[in-house]
Parts: sequence; structure tokens; C-alpha cells
Amino acid sequence: MLEACRISAGALKIAGEAVEPGVTTAELDEIAEKYIRSQGAEPNFKNYDGYPATACISVNNEVIHGIPSKKRKLEAGDIVSIDLGAKFDGYHGDNAATFACGDVSPEAKRLMEVTRESLYKGIAAALPGGRIGDISNAVQSYVEKNGFSVVRDFVGHGVGTHLHEAPEVPNFGTAGHGIRLLPGMTLAIEPMVNAGGFGVKVLPDGWTVLTKDGSLSAHFEHTVAITPDGPLIMTKA
Ligand code: MF3
Ligand code: CO
Repeated sequence: MLEACRISAGALKIAGEAVEPGVTTAELDEIAEKYIRSQGAEPNFKNYDGYPATACISVNNEVIHGIPSKKRKLEAGDIVSIDLGAKFDGYHGDNAATFACGDVSPEAKRLMEVTRESLYKGIAAALPGGRIGDISNAVQSYVEKNGFSVVRDFVGHGVGTHLHEAPEVPNFGTAGHGIRLLPGMTLAIEPMVNAGGFGVKVLPDGWTVLTKDGSLSAHFEHTVAITPDGPLIMTKA
């Protein structure tokens, strides 16, 4: 599983480094897919529930599940969320990050920073003997303290021999509540944070999730193992 996660992180890194004005989201997807296959792994989103690509690439007011397209050319000022994973030797990795395309607004920069930091707050709360709600509450309280909102309709998840496993890992909730966290659990913690309200809607393509109010959204995700010594971030490039 560490190898699946290493490959997932490597693919995210090189796709993120390729974000620049003029690049299409289909080109980013191809870069990620080539890298994953070059490592002897498979893109684990492709064909998942019929999903057609390696990565989900969601721009600006798109929250998650944006489908890469040759027609979607990135522009300076865009924020670009890339979510992807790899399956290696039967195990899954899953990770996401939001990248700036050229210079972005101070508000967009702050949204990305707060979302990234909220992920690390959640990871720090993934302690053996704690509870799922400790992670949820750590993410939510940090995000809301900074004036943004966490998406309610989509959540993090267990990950292992399947991409999505129990338990759900919401980005909102109450500390001390939910199932107990135990060594050996592997979780995808993935705050989706909107600059405006938490409401979202799905496009007629059946995949692309947008903010209801048109505000910007950011998304960061790591696959994390709970160990006796605390959280281990497995998706490190
Ligand atoms: N982005 C989801 C996650 O991080 C998985 C994508 S499902 C897919 O859990 F079908 F779009 F691939
Ligand atoms: Co995930």
C-alpha cells in the first residue's frame, strides 16, 4: 500500500507541476496516467462507477469530480484541484491537491492555504484511541475559524484493497464521537472547502460537482495510516 501511495503522490506532483496557462485538463490527465503506468500501477479512478479518466480535475467553482477535457484550457488565475490515485499489487492510494495556475487572487491563495492546513489539522487528530469525529472536528473548526465552509455532501473514506471502504470520514462533526481509531486503519482524509456556502450541485454530466453559489472551492487529500505512534502520511512523493 505504501508503494501504491508513493506512485499516487508522484503522479499528483508531476501533474501539479504541469499546471500553467494554456494547458488543457486532458493533458494533465495524460501526464498522470503515463506516470502511473510507468510505475507498473493502474489508475484506480478509471472505470470506477464508469468514471472516464485517471484524474478528477476541478477548476475554480468546481469542487470535485471534474472530467478532464481537451476543451478545458487553463487560464492564469485559475485554481486547479487534481484528485487521483493508483492501484499497485492489490492496494490503493488516493490523494488530491489544489494548484495555482499563474498568479491567483489573494482570496484564492488564502482558500488553498486554509484547505491544505485543515487537512494537516485533521491528520494530526488521527490518533490511535481517538475517534473519527476528532478528525472531522479538527478540519471543520479550523476551516470555519477562517471564514470558509466545509462541503457536507461528500466525505473522506477508508482506503485499502478497495478505493472506498468504511468508515466515512466527514469533514464536519463532533470530537469524541464516531468509531474508534485503531492502529492499522488506513484513511483518505480529504477536506473540500468552499469560499462561500457549503452547498453544492451536480452538473448534468452526472459527475462534476460545483459550488451552489459559484464561489471558489479547494480540495486537499492524503492517504494516512494510523500507527501506534500516531498518523503516518502514506501519500508522500
Ligand atoms: N475523488 C474521489 C476520492 O477521492 C474518488 C473519485 S471517484 C471517481 O475519494 F469515480 F471519480 F473516480
Ligand atoms: Co478519496
